Amino acid sequence: MIVQINQSLKKLNTFGIDQKAERLIWAQSTDEVLDYIKHYDAPKLVLGGGSNILLTKNIEGDVLKIDIHGRKVVYEDDDVVHVKLGAGENWHEAVLWTLSRGWAGLENLSLIPGNCGTAPVQNIGAYGVELKDVFVSCEGINLKDKTHFNLALDDIKFGYRDSIFKGVWKNKAIITWVTLKLTKRNHNLKVSYGAIQNELTQAEILEPTPKEISNAIISIRESKLPDPAKLGNSGSFFKNPIVPAELAEKLVGQYPDLPCYDAADGKKIAAGWLIEKAGWKGHREGDAGVHKKQALVLVNYGKATGTQLLTLSQKIITDIQEKFEVLLEAEVNLL
Ligand code: EPU
Repeated sequence: MIVQINQSLKKLNTFGIDQKAERLIWAQSTDEVLDYIKHYDAPKLVLGGGSNILLTKNIEGDVLKIDIHGRKVVYEDDDVVHVKLGAGENWHEAVLWTLSRGWAGLENLSLIPGNCGTAPVQNIGAYGVELKDVFVSCEGINLKDKTHFNLALDDIKFGYRDSIFKGVWKNKAIITWVTLKLTKRNHNLKVSYGAIQNELTQAEILEPTPKEISNAIISIRESKLPDPAKLGNSGSFFKNPIVPAELAEKLVGQYPDLPCYDAADGKKIAAGWLIEKAGWKGHREGDAGVHKKQALVLVNYGKATGTQLLTLSQKIITDIQEKFEVLLEAEVNLL
């Protein structure tokens, strides 16, 4: 276990916010996580890839950085392969690794920032695929009992950007390994999104391979989502709200081009559209801003503080509620 004192977290969160940890502890195995928990109890913050947090203050106490690496095949037959990924593995690099072996399932989830261990927490999703579609199980440490856990698909209660780890298990578990099920043949490719179709048509690809779909997704994401290495951000800052059908109908009546999709308990509408319509796209307050190409993404032009970004997000929430009667909710964890 490596321990660093009074350490800046700037390089460990994709917003690039310069807040400090009183102690930053790097755990490189499940046993190190367990040892830490047995000695010190729960840390103030468990840090994965830092791609879904907004730090608004220094962390007075311990930050446990999960730095567990490894990619293992744990089951294989003629059709499928199960791969077990360390929680500290970079998500996109793991995606590329699976594709380079000819395995499919993660192509639509290419270029999502963050690490493998946090992927189940918010059930990462893009272009018609969510983590739950490939999920087998995950293991880790239960912070209360200080014991190992192993949870299967049905235990996790996946929903839209949601799981048990944001519900009853919130702050109660540290994921150390994730196992995913990929296909070796008879792939179930999802290319129905218009943007994917456009990319493939432009490249004159009629029957895409998983790798070609990944390339298309990378190109789409690069065209509208900022690269955190160049412009601090944490992807979609807000969730797409699920609203009652009556409200959705009223809004679509007023704004026929508002994107609106069926959801289990109402209609899901595009928060990016609402924010753009309200005039926030490209808006900037100091170094905190709304991305010029995707209004759902807040960006740090350099020296924004977490509080400045939080204030901006709150102004947007208030304005959207006033204009459309829709309450936006942050997707990002606020600290
Ligand atoms: N839209 C606008 N203006 C904007 C942004 C979006 O009008 O500034 C409209 C688009 O034209 C489109 C609709 O809203 O009709 C949806 O936009 P888009 O396809 O860009 O996706 P999104 O709903 O804004 C979600 C995810 C993304 C994911 C994409 C693609 C959430 C909160 N976000 O964004 O995930 O990549 O779909 O599947 O569900 C993330 O979670 O960090 C993330 C980037």
